[in-house]
Amino acid sequence: MTLMRVGTSIDDPAPDEQSPTNEEADEESTLPRIRPPRLEYGDGAAMWRLARESGVLEENAEYTYHMFSHFFADACVIAEIEGKPAGFIAGFRPPDRPDAVFVWQIAVHPDHRGQGIARLMLHGLLQRLHPEVQFLEATVAPSNKASERTFRSVARELDTLCNEAVLFPADRFGGPSHEDEVLFRIGPVTAEAAAAYAPRMEQETAAAL
Ligand SMILES: CC(C)(COP(=O)(O)OP(=O)(O)OC[C@H]1O[C@@H](n2cnc3c(N)ncnc32)[C@H](O)[C@@H]1OP(=O)(O)O)[C@@H](O)C(=O)NCCC(=O)NCCS
Repeated sequence: MTLMRVGTSIDDPAPDEQSPTNEEADEESTLPRIRPPRLEYGDGAAMWRLARESGVLEENAEYTYHMFSHFFADACVIAEIEGKPAGFIAGFRPPDRPDAVFVWQIAVHPDHRGQGIARLMLHGLLQRLHPEVQFLEATVAPSNKASERTFRSVARELDTLCNEAVLFPADRFGGPSHEDEVLFRIGPVTAEAAAAYAPRMEQETAAAL
């Protein structure tokens, strides 16, 4: 089984590389393809739908996702399975910390969870942005165990630190009751870890699918 498309697709693909050829399709159709979002493919709408279908994420305006896919595409990820978006990351680079990428939202469609796709997307994102980016940040609500495990697992795989501290305490939220949002700051990520781990993840995921 060739894994090339998974590993190479993190870069913005050329238009004639958007779909596998007929010969490749049978072999590769179940492998997640990791790539940045593209406004012209309607990825903003796909991210919005995946967020709504997540059953966990707060609802946001569809416009938000078009904005991320257009203005922050380099810090966002689409995981595509059989030509359809199955997961996404909406992230950005905090202006005062250019060595970090902040993952605002990450979601995997319920049909594809537990197959390593979230970790694959995070490793792919780091691989894309390293060496400028050496820290991965996200806030996690303490009740979201899947999210907590995802980020701790990525830190372990990268053999680096995962600092956890409340960033937005529950009492700062003005709306209906809200949990603390705990900042996970993972890093620093070495060049070796950023380069080496993504291909290993691709093989693990391919085997699980
Ligand atoms: C969080 C989420 C993105 C994880 O995606 P995924 O592709 O299923 O995750 P992975 O398969 O890469 O697994 C990552 C880790 O999470 C663990 N995990 C996955 N689902 C879990 C669950 N329901 N409960 C507890 N742990 C879970 C896995 O066991 C793995 O941990 P390990 O490496 O220690 O074994 C997915 O559950 C999701 O979309 N949730 C809804 C949206 C959300 O809560 N996003 C996070 C806040 S922005």
